[in-house]
Parts: sequence; structure tokens; C-alpha cells
Amino acid sequence: MENYGFDADFVWGVATSSYQIEGAAHEDGRGLSIWDTFCKIPGKVVNGESGEIACDHYHRLDQDLDLIAELGVKAYRFSIAWPRIQPDGRGAFNTKGLAFYERLVDGLLERGIKPFATLYHWDLPDALQATQQGWESRDTAYRFAEYARKIGSVLGDRVASIATHNEPWCTAWLGNATGYFAPGNADLKKAAHVAHHLLLSHGLAVQALRADGVKAPLGIVLNQSPAHGASESAEDQAAASLEYAKFVRWYMDPIFKGEYPAEALQWYGANGPQDVVREGDFDIIGTPIDFLGINYYTRIYASASGDKHPPGPHGFTDMDWEIYPQGLTELLTRLNGDYTLPPIYITENGCATKDELSGGQVHDTARIDYYDQHLAALADAIEQGVNVSGYFAWSMLDNFEWASGYDKRFGMVYVDYASQQRIPKNSAYWYRDVIARHTDQK
Ligand code: NOJ
Repeated sequence: MENYGFDADFVWGVATSSYQIEGAAHEDGRGLSIWDTFCKIPGKVVNGESGEIACDHYHRLDQDLDLIAELGVKAYRFSIAWPRIQPDGRGAFNTKGLAFYERLVDGLLERGIKPFATLYHWDLPDALQATQQGWESRDTAYRFAEYARKIGSVLGDRVASIATHNEPWCTAWLGNATGYFAPGNADLKKAAHVAHHLLLSHGLAVQALRADGVKAPLGIVLNQSPAHGASESAEDQAAASLEYAKFVRWYMDPIFKGEYPAEALQWYGANGPQDVVREGDFDIIGTPIDFLGINYYTRIYASASGDKHPPGPHGFTDMDWEIYPQGLTELLTRLNGDYTLPPIYITENGCATKDELSGGQVHDTARIDYYDQHLAALADAIEQGVNVSGYFAWSMLDNFEWASGYDKRFGMVYVDYASQQRIPKNSAYWYRDVIARHTDQK
């Protein structure tokens, strides 16, 4: 039961990110991030919540490390808060901030868990936003590379991998085209400029880390989905192709093919990135990487008429995202055909459910089903020849779900925010058993 046939050295992990769990927003010299500022704008986050305290992970590091170990995972994916390391986004580095991540990495290694670090999971130093409009400015890409070098010099010999960005589509699109995320701009051209500078910063950081001799595998984490038309009509199929070009290919093509997809460029028109693309940028963006991280949650449903999504056979999660496990197989096999790729990690996959604590337990069977279906879909992709080295469940524990606040629970571990007590849900025990079944044999 629940043996998906993954190799014994398959990397099993759980993931989190800094702003979503750490709290301690004003401690030990941490600077403000754009999310601290954004959360203060009325109406932006459900119930006016913020990551000010979150899971108080900063103060509960040792206890949380023990918890990660109890889950039986082999790897832990976390992100580093740039404003803890460099409060102004430029200039002086903060020793206390660096010390926290050294303790985290060393604590994982002591427990036999591989540290997978991400440099940017959306918490940009607010000073860079205030003084130069953050990622709208080309200079921010260079500031990022400088911050990356610092992390490389302190942690590069101990981490199992370094990802530059997490889901740059979210930063560019949700942060700048729709205004749903920080910094809250609703301007298509800004979004295109931001996306280009994010890609540039990725390439610059990889080059800088390589030049410094960092041995850890380097990569990037992209959120991806297949896009399906509402019908077989030419209009719906064209809408699906365009959505895929804007969402997936907009990041994949520059990194692996040295250009933006023509279809999406045409759609952007005068609002595209052309004003900020400089000669040589694609050579930087296309610097070879050692792994590709993919976050998979759902598929995109595209309809030329804007029709609403009909309910699928697996239903929807508490985020209202369609559960569509076979989309993971479809996505991976397509990518494998379209590009020459390095090894892939599924760096996030999971669902929000309405979890309730009863008698000290959380019976999150819907989450177990979700993981089970997606692991089976992943096994199918591997069977079809896709090179996947590991899987990280999102998330290790309930946390601050951005604009949805604390209302949406993605964790394998329940967090009672009033007491900060952590209670493993049934899915945590299930996952531990799945991992044991794959790794303890022979
Ligand atoms: C993607 C993001 O990387 C993560 O921060 C977020 O909580 C999950 N998906 C769920 O929305």
C-alpha cells in the first residue's frame, strides 16, 4: 500500500517560507519587508492579518527542528528573509540574521536532514521598494546577486541546494499586474519589467555563486500548470495556449531557450518587457542550472468566453483550486519533451482543507487523498521517463497564507495560533509511513 515505487535515494521533504512562519518581525536587526508594509494596507489581507508573529518559528527553532525530524523527512525546504540578512537591501550585513540561518542549517544537518535553501520567497527589503520601486529597477537584480553571494559565502558549503527565486510569476503578476500581493501594483507594464528583472537577478545570482566556487546545486523554483481549454473550439484552445505561454513559458523559455514566447509577447504588446531588455540579458538568464524546482497545485482552465470552471471529478480545495492530479503527469511529460532539463524536484505540492482539532487529533483525510493522488501522478511521470529527484509537501505546518491570512491551512502539522502549540495531523503520520516504506527497505 502506498508504495509509489520511488528509488530509495528519492528526496522526501517538507517546505515552508520565511515570512509565512518566522514572525519576530522586528527582532535582531531585521529590516522591514514589502509584506510588512503591504499587510498594513486595509483590505489587502483577510482579517487584516500579517506575518508579524506567524508561527513564531524564529523563537521556536529547536522545537520545530525536532518536529521536522519526527516527520521522518530527509530534506527541509526553507527560505531566507533578505531583510534579516541585509536590512536595507544594500550595504551592511546583519550578523544576527545570518546566525539564525546558520543555526537552522546546522540543526538540520545534526538531525540528518538535507537543507534546501531558497533566497527569495517574496519578502523584499522594503527599503528597496521605497527608494527604487523594488524589482521595477534593474539595480535590484544586482543587489540580489550581492545578497546571494553573502549567503553563498556563509552557507554554501553546508546546504544541499540553493534556489534563487520561488514562483517569480507570483511576484511579477500577483504583485504588480493584479495588486493581489505585495507591493500591490496593478500595472501590466510594471509586471513585465519586474518579471524581466527577476529573471535577470536569477542569472546574475547563479553566475556570482559559481564564480565564488559555491558547490551546492543551484536552481530556481517555478509554479506551473497545464492549461486546458473549456472546449475543443479554436477560441478556447487558443486561450489555453496563451495562458500556458504567460504562466509557464514566460519563465521557462528565457531560462532554457534564450527568449520570451512570441505568443505572449504579442499579447503584452506595448506593455511588454522590451524597454528593459538589454543586449546580453538572455545569456545571463540562461546560465546553466543544476536543478529545476516545480510547484504544482492545480491546472489552468481557459475559456474564451470567460465561463466559470465546471466541477471536476476530484473537487476543489479550500482555496477553490481544482484538484487535478493527472495535470502533474501531463505537465512534467510535456516539459520533458519541450526542453532539455536538469533534474527536477517537486518543490511544493499540497492543499488547504478545513481542518478541525478534535480530541487532540486532526483527521485530514482529504489532504491524504490529495498527496496520494499526486504522488501516484508523479510516479507515472517518472515511469514515462521524467527525471525527478525529490518531492516536498507544502507545508510542514499551517502558516500565513499571504492575502488569505491564517484562514487557509496547508500544514501537515496543525498550529493552534493562540497557544502556538503544534499538533501533527493524520497526514503527517501517513507521510512518515510512506517515506519509511520507500527508504527503509533493503
Ligand atoms: C505557493 C507559495 O510558494 C507558498 O508560499 C504558498 O503558501 C503556497 N503556494 C500555497 O498557496
